[in-house]
Amino acid sequence: MQNCFDTEKRIRLGIWGLGRGSSFIHAASAVNIDIVAGCDCNENLRERFRKECPDAFITADQNEFLSCKNMDAVLIATYFEDHARHAILALEAGFHVMCEVTSFFTPAEGVRLVEAVEKSGKVYNMLENYPFSKENLYLAKLWKEGFFGEFQYGEFEYLHECRALCYSYNAPGNPPVEPGDVAHSWRSWLDFHYYNTHSLGPLMKITGLRPVEVCAFPEKVALPGYLPGSGMSKPCPSLIRMSNGGVMRNLCGATTNDSPTGKRLWGTRAAAESLGHGLELRIGANGKGLKTRIEPQWPELGELAATAGHGGGDFWELYYFAREILTGEAAPWNIYDACDVTLAGIMAVRSHEANGKPMEIPDFRRSDVREHYRHDQDAMHRPFNPAEIFPVSHDPAQTGAFNSLMLNLIQYATLLRKACDGAKIYAQIPDGETRLEVIRALNQLLQQLPEMIDARSQAKKLVDTYPECPAADALRSAMILAEPEILNADLPEKLRQKLAELLRA
Ligand SMILES: NC(=O)c1ccc[n+]([C@@H]2O[C@H](COP(=O)([O-])OP(=O)(O)OC[C@H]3O[C@@H](n4cnc5c(N)ncnc54)[C@H](O)[C@@H]3O)[C@@H](O)[C@H]2O)c1
Repeated sequence: MQNCFDTEKRIRLGIWGLGRGSSFIHAASAVNIDIVAGCDCNENLRERFRKECPDAFITADQNEFLSCKNMDAVLIATYFEDHARHAILALEAGFHVMCEVTSFFTPAEGVRLVEAVEKSGKVYNMLENYPFSKENLYLAKLWKEGFFGEFQYGEFEYLHECRALCYSYNAPGNPPVEPGDVAHSWRSWLDFHYYNTHSLGPLMKITGLRPVEVCAFPEKVALPGYLPGSGMSKPCPSLIRMSNGGVMRNLCGATTNDSPTGKRLWGTRAAAESLGHGLELRIGANGKGLKTRIEPQWPELGELAATAGHGGGDFWELYYFAREILTGEAAPWNIYDACDVTLAGIMAVRSHEANGKPMEIPDFRRSDVREHYRHDQDAMHRPFNPAEIFPVSHDPAQTGAFNSLMLNLIQYATLLRKACDGAKIYAQIPDGETRLEVIRALNQLLQQLPEMIDARSQAKKLVDTYPECPAADALRSAMILAEPEILNADLPEKLRQKLAELLRA
């Protein structure tokens, strides 16, 4: 195996939160990291981890985990709003910390976290991976060489429609959240502005600039199939002024067209654009300059990175963390940069709650600024309690299948829309493979129609029993996704006719 560092020294790592946390197991060994412990309250995730790391210490109990004597560092991938609390516990227990995005949920927590990191003398890295894709690392290298000149304007996107994750775990097979009548602890309601790091993070790391002010209009149109008022159900655009006076549009959220890495970037000497079909550069310091597609190259160790998740980003996160511990060379996401990006999300939420009022993004490197936010515990208003989406008096025997039902409704509605909308535009689809996909969807829909109609009647029954609760609103809006077709008694016959017609064409 390739050795990344000029030392035999190893780092003993414990993983806290074995969903996303487990995706780092594969890449660890090559960067001198041994996985020695894992902690999760979910038994299935502990079992999966046991198979991958049979010699590791495994527990459901966080106190037992943090008392581990043979551990040097902790990777935190627990619930979104718990990161600061858990990171502080781990630092106080004497461990280096890597923590998933974002670093904290309120400015007051941020102040406590910065102070805990400073006091501990330990390494703290935030795990924002998108800046470390092949494309973004290459752009950062060119930027550092002065290729782009000064930053003028940018548009970065992380659009990820993850409606099903309101009702299921982000684990293989996406099993329904247990028990079946509670929603996911944070993915069901969180304002997507908080989850801003995958789009703002790359711009910060390419240009070396920090965000200083943010402005976000409220977006009120939600996608169907989410719980009512969910902040995850819509696009969340914000405009951010960067420290050199340039401006970026940060677009995160959920839409009907995912764009997890879309970007456009303008400097005073050159521009870059990547909208899902490779990277293009415009050179010549001129609006009509030479536009060319380019193939970015990995830096050294890139071949190793390419085998890890998120386009190699997961490898580089582990690599930089290990490098900082083993050699002292600073990693890209120290606590202060983590504060910049985390606070940009917190302030974007405040801006849209204030109808678009611009909000300053404080610099937590300065202790006098931190002082001002020491007691600032304001967070978004939660539209519902994910553990109470049915009335208190509900009968679990009736409601226990809610999450499975939502997942089925979403899956069936997606299939119906693909088949019926595909049939409408079929004649204008130029390529054979996509046409075939529409035919396959129509066929599948015909086969699954009886199950779909049954799921719809189960949903209607549950809505009629508990009409006034967030769960009923979610069921109603998921049903709308498949309308009006599903309400038509002749649908099977119409689908058969359509299929025959398209196959003849
Ligand atoms: N950077 C990325 O690309 C990326 C991708 C996915 C998730 N994430 C982040 O990773 C984190 C985890 O996400 P996830 O997808 O695994 O979903 P998740 O939030 O459902 O997983 C959290 C896990 O932590 C466990 N947990 C929570 N509190 C615990 C405690 N006190 N003790 C023991 N176990 C506890 C839960 O049982 C659960 O398995 C989130 O904050 C998310 O933002 C980042």
